[in-house]
Amino acid sequence: MNKVYLIGIGPGDPDYLTVQAINTMRKIDVFFLLEKEGEGCKDFLKMRKKVLERYLESGKYRIVVARIPKRKKGGNPYVEEIKVWRQETAAVIAGLIKNEMKEGENGALLVWGDPSLYDGHLEMLQHILKGGAINFEYEAIPGITSIQVLAAKHKIPLNRIGESIVITTGRKLKEYSTDEVTNVIVLLDSYSAFKRFQDTNIDIYWGSYLGTEDEILISGKLKDVIDDIKKLKSEAKKKKGWLMDTYILRRSNKKSV
Ligand SMILES: C[S@@+](CC[C@H](N)C(=O)[O-])C[C@H]1O[C@@H](n2cnc3c(N)ncnc32)[C@H](O)[C@@H]1O
Repeated sequence: MNKVYLIGIGPGDPDYLTVQAINTMRKIDVFFLLEKEGEGCKDFLKMRKKVLERYLESGKYRIVVARIPKRKKGGNPYVEEIKVWRQETAAVIAGLIKNEMKEGENGALLVWGDPSLYDGHLEMLQHILKGGAINFEYEAIPGITSIQVLAAKHKIPLNRIGESIVITTGRKLKEYSTDEVTNVIVLLDSYSAFKRFQDTNIDIYWGSYLGTEDEILISGKLKDVIDDIKKLKSEAKKKKGWLMDTYILRRSNKKSV
């Protein structure tokens, strides 16, 4: 039976691949590189190819690049919109497994960061299998997440003694009150949703393009650094055409060790 691996490759630097990820890559016959339309797509494709070239002998594997549909924004509520987009993308992946893998081969998708964190690949493979038209085994290989890199770069733990950690999106951060912020980690924030806390006593640890040569790190009292972050975000987006940032909002706690 064919087997499909979802290999977490970390968030940018090829050094972030685990030994397990590298060993798995070495037994893959065909890598499926999905190409999104729009900002950053060429850069992401380039970074994935760089990972393959760095760890694998050329000629020992095949690459199939496939264009995935653009998400249709604005028509449906957000969750519905994502569901439709994932179903369309799953159809592309199903086509690749069916048409590009010979019997008994191993295929792989290189997943940004880790497949368990704000990533749809696991659910898409499950959706394909549920459809029943094709059958295959699958396995997820964990990768380093953007959150781990952010914490390491800022040299902070994600929580202080006995505290909880919330991981959420810019969209959902809008629902949080200042009192609910202890350690809130935010991904997928195209709104700069941290702005709503600018008059509070909250600290921010912000990072963009983590693990790449364009990495930017800023930390401090949100009210003191917010203008710098806004400026850097807008300049970086203009320069590169896309921006990926992650941050931790943290209430100051004088009692911390
Ligand atoms: C669709 S989620 C995927 C997260 C990924 N699975 C992970 O484990 O990090 C994409 C979001 O992850 C964060 N992200 C991923 N890579 C990043 C990087 N190199 N620098 C900063 N943020 C990153 C950003 O918040 C981005 O909007």
